[in-house]
Amino acid sequence: MTTASAPAIECGSERLPGGFDPRRLRRQFPIFDNNPDLVFLDSGASAQKPALVIDRVADYYRTDYANVHRGVYRLSARSTELFEEARAKVQRFLNAADPREIVFVRGATEAINLVAQSWGWAFLKPGDEVVISELEHHSNIVPWQLLRDRLGIRLVVTPIDATGGLDLAAFAAKLSSRTRLVAITHIANATGSLVPVETVVELSHRAGARVLIDGCQAAPRLAVDVQALGCDFYTFSGHKTYGPTGIGVLWGRYDVLAAMPPWQGGGDMIVNVTFEKTDFQDPPHRFEAGTPDISGAIGLAAALDFIEELGRENILEHEEALTGYGVDQLSRIPGLQLLGAGQRRLGILSFDLEGVHPHDLATVLDQHHVAVRAGHHCAQPLLDKLGVGATTRASLGVYNDERDIDALVDAIEAAREMFR
Ligand code: ALA
Repeated sequence: MTTASAPAIECGSERLPGGFDPRRLRRQFPIFDNNPDLVFLDSGASAQKPALVIDRVADYYRTDYANVHRGVYRLSARSTELFEEARAKVQRFLNAADPREIVFVRGATEAINLVAQSWGWAFLKPGDEVVISELEHHSNIVPWQLLRDRLGIRLVVTPIDATGGLDLAAFAAKLSSRTRLVAITHIANATGSLVPVETVVELSHRAGARVLIDGCQAAPRLAVDVQALGCDFYTFSGHKTYGPTGIGVLWGRYDVLAAMPPWQGGGDMIVNVTFEKTDFQDPPHRFEAGTPDISGAIGLAAALDFIEELGRENILEHEEALTGYGVDQLSRIPGLQLLGAGQRRLGILSFDLEGVHPHDLATVLDQHHVAVRAGHHCAQPLLDKLGVGATTRASLGVYNDERDIDALVDAIEAAREMFR
């Protein structure tokens, strides 16, 4: 049977108190069966998928597939039920107050563009300020630049400090009565810097600004509670959260979403259409024009089940320990400079090896079966600020352990020999 039953996850191990054994866990990820030598350290770009997610999507197409919100026949009703159950699953994952606060989008990029195009156009006027930080991914820079160039708002960039973390004092000084929105990452994708978003929200709200948090790198690693955070928008992508590509989430407080106009028009987001006028659905459907990624949402729900079954505290404990081990091991390599991440780094190790271009290094690492990302990580302004055009980045997932870090270190040592 195919419905959303709780997945059976084999995670038993005495290794961590209440934790899990990544080596046993990875048996649930078919990619490792098919690539037995793979040392996968690129989950920050996209995480691998457990079999239960892959099977869930395939089973859905085999047994329950039909379009949603349209058919009166039972199969369509069943599909709608599964799709809306997925929305409720995301609601619980984020501890949102209401499933109507969950908008399915293609990914965090689309979510931020949605907020810029809908909320931005409706509520910003020339001279209003949107504050972003130097830590941002291009997806939390470019949508605001597009809006700035078309609408005449000001884009204010708040800096990092000397350690690579968000400079909170400088941030507080950037806020003013002109600040309408603060759009900021939860964990910087290029360095792993964890932003104290609770403080950011408090300071921003005190200034009367709304807050959008890009949670792409945080949702797979931290327990996110949007009500406790008190932000106005939160977004993450399914594919970094062990789910399918092409699906992501925009969470917005209901009163905020309800005041926003649609940003794309089409089927399913309307109540009534004439050639003169259209009445729109309430959120979230108002923001979901056209046939959505139904299987993606259902696969995402399975991925969130997977994460919850593992336990988000356990995942955090595991990633913190492994990040610490990675920092220790990499710091011993002569000529290797780890990019600063401020007070707390989580799940991401970004570095420069003296005399070796990151693309060359990544190519050599790949010859040792170590998969990492090299380049600017879609965070060019941050890398420019840090004085490096590109880095090599290892990013962690639940299936990684110390042996993967050791393999990375050995492969870097081999590269050092090669480029000596
Ligand atoms: N945003 C993804 C990354 O950091 C693709 O690699």
